[in-house]
Amino acid sequence: MSDENLTAADPAPRAKPRVAVLFGGRSSEHAVSCVTAAGVLGAINKDKYDVIPIGIAKSGQWVLASGDTGQWSLSASSLPEVPPSSETVTLAEIGGEHQLIVAAPNQVPQELGTVDVVFPLLHGPFGEDGTIQGLLELSDTRYVGAGVLASAVGMDKHYMKVVFEAAGLHVGPYIAVTDRQWVKDAESVRKQVDRLGFPVFVKPARAGSSMGISKVDSLKELDAAVEEARRHDLKLVIEAGIVGREIECAVLEGRGTDSPRTSMPGEISVAAGTHEFYDFNAKYVEDDAAALSCPADLPEDAIVRVRELAAAAFDAVGAEGLSRVDFFYTNDGELIINEINTMPGFTPKSMYPQMWAASGLGYADLIDELIYLALNRKTGLR
Ligand SMILES: Nc1ncnc2c1ncn2[C@@H]1O[C@H](COP(=O)(O)OP(=O)(O)O)[C@@H](O)[C@H]1O
Ligand SMILES: [Mg+2]
Repeated sequence: MSDENLTAADPAPRAKPRVAVLFGGRSSEHAVSCVTAAGVLGAINKDKYDVIPIGIAKSGQWVLASGDTGQWSLSASSLPEVPPSSETVTLAEIGGEHQLIVAAPNQVPQELGTVDVVFPLLHGPFGEDGTIQGLLELSDTRYVGAGVLASAVGMDKHYMKVVFEAAGLHVGPYIAVTDRQWVKDAESVRKQVDRLGFPVFVKPARAGSSMGISKVDSLKELDAAVEEARRHDLKLVIEAGIVGREIECAVLEGRGTDSPRTSMPGEISVAAGTHEFYDFNAKYVEDDAAALSCPADLPEDAIVRVRELAAAAFDAVGAEGLSRVDFFYTNDGELIINEINTMPGFTPKSMYPQMWAASGLGYADLIDELIYLALNRKTGLR
């Protein structure tokens, strides 16, 4: 096969690129994605880009969404949601261009125009896990962020650790538990957990925003925690609890062949006595439950190591665009990697943009840079 078959011809650049912002989605992080989209839609430079907001309802249906950002706020009593619609949006390749088509029952489909780049502001499965990315790859549509493999690895807390370990990064002790193992031999899982030592953290392998995660202090609490996690994913990861500060670092792909850029590290501190760990409510609902501070108060050598390790994690999974890499910093100065998020929370108040703001790159400029990177990358194998 010749190289020409691998790469789509570059279209002539448009004066005002059209950006389709995709949000909502089928995962339990639907509401969080709506809030992220509100932030981006409020800040994106509309003089420079033609922006089309597309919501993905919980059913998976794509709909034309309101750009009115006020309706997408998050509180304990109201989680924002993309409403279903009689009109469905699809992305189709027509005459070599990527067109958005709106179809409604008994009506002639209407063309919305060509899309230059998709900004998939989706968290969790069917959005951050390579599935949407695969759809966009099939149609040679450019998009912001990680590709299929990096997204899938970054979503799966088991394979993420396998890849990190192979790259020489320090991960904490854990076991992965499949549906078959739990259903056929729960007793051997209990024994392995006992060997990890308590507390353990029981997690769905593929979820986010702390959904389905429990801290378990003794064997008798294990089964309930496993059942809770299995509501999100039948595959689980169970980890030894790590005592350490939660330190994060934002990574931004370099331009051209440049190395990834890293921000000043930030720190999450959960207010003592309110939450046992950084759970969903501490993350999004209760204003005072967690403090984000950036730059984190760390010795200079730790700052250097965090940034090096974050870039190494980004490269280990083959990420593109952006990622947030999260660590535990232990009392003896060890940095244990917890996870990489290939589409981290992205409201102006979220840690990823905050870390860039503290490193000299503001929110609107960050959005601009991500779109620049996406517009300038090749389609096909790269
Ligand atoms: N092994 C662990 N030891 C100590 N705390 C943990 C551990 N794993 C998770 N946590 C706590 O739970 C939170 C959520 O876990 P995480 O793996 O980051 O899931 P998510 O992908 O949902 O953010 C972390 O921010 C941390 O507060
Ligand atoms: Mg996390």
